[in-house]
Amino acid sequence: MDAPLTRLYPAPSASVPLTGLYLAHRLRERAPADRPYVYTNYVVSLDGRISLEEPARDRRRPPPAITNPRDWRLYLELATQADAVLTSGRRLREIAGEGRDTIRCVAETAKGDLAAWRQAHGLPPHPRCLALSTTLDFPADGLAAPPGSELAILVGSGADARQARGFERAGIDVRRFDHPRVRGADVVGYARERGIRTLYAIGGPEVLHTLLAARLLDRLYLTTALLALGGEAFDSLVRGETLVPPYRFRLRELYLDGAGAHGSEQLFATCERDDSGREGHAPIDSP
Ligand SMILES: NC(=O)c1ccc[n+]([C@@H]2O[C@H](COP(=O)([O-])OP(=O)(O)OC[C@H]3O[C@@H](n4cnc5c(N)ncnc54)[C@H](OP(=O)(O)O)[C@@H]3O)[C@@H](O)[C@H]2O)c1
Repeated sequence: MDAPLTRLYPAPSASVPLTGLYLAHRLRERAPADRPYVYTNYVVSLDGRISLEEPARDRRRPPPAITNPRDWRLYLELATQADAVLTSGRRLREIAGEGRDTIRCVAETAKGDLAAWRQAHGLPPHPRCLALSTTLDFPADGLAAPPGSELAILVGSGADARQARGFERAGIDVRRFDHPRVRGADVVGYARERGIRTLYAIGGPEVLHTLLAARLLDRLYLTTALLALGGEAFDSLVRGETLVPPYRFRLRELYLDGAGAHGSEQLFATCERDDSGREGHAPIDSP
């Protein structure tokens, strides 16, 4: 983690340490009174891939050519500031299949300086985990939730109510909504109820679309690895109905890192939602 970054924006350019870069953003102080501060973070290739197919295992995953410990450190600095993380049903299914004792969507905030940071800010070792699902198709035994795992699943109307009660008996908070897909407003309503002030979205393209459609995302952290990967089966940042108007961001900070995956370069960008000229644009999922 020793190699410094070059700050490109705002000017003037400067050499800055990587460790502490995103903790310094003090996201907890940004939460408005009436809803959580919502932010996300992706590592993406120059040709827009956040995942590629892993043929041997018949699944997609973040491409190893772009994932790297320096990006991961910043990912964890963002998780450390979160009351809760928001993930996908697919990811929760993956975690459930790993045979862990306790479901944690981000386990590493309980270690080292990040654990100390959370303690100093009066936070429990791990952020709560919220997952979005249309199906509730999870192995009941894989999701056994001992006290303290703080797992909630927000599901659409297609999920079986009896199955939902079964999960609740196992200590999981299940919230079922009366429309097929969970909407951004549902997520915010739940977060408000639970006193969640900072919400870190760590899901993929459908989770991000859910937040963008409801015009809820405050900040996008984007790591761009300066590599092109190609591939036929991949995910990009967002998937879903066209966003009209487009979701507008403004660049707040930009850093060049020469020590990305396998020595390649990467850019760390902080983009903030741009509300200028937004009057009269209702969220897509508003009633
Ligand atoms: N490079 C990166 O930074 C990065 C970051 C995140 C993810 N990824 C990768 O991207 C790929 C796709 O990730 P993903 O499958 O987790 O992403 P996703 O497209 O956000 O999640 C899809 C699943 O989430 C649930 N879901 C999402 N929005 C929902 C809504 N509004 N209402 C109800 N359910 C909803 C559904 O679960 P059910 O099937 O249970 O209905 C759906 O199948 C993976 O390979 C992942 O590793 C990469």
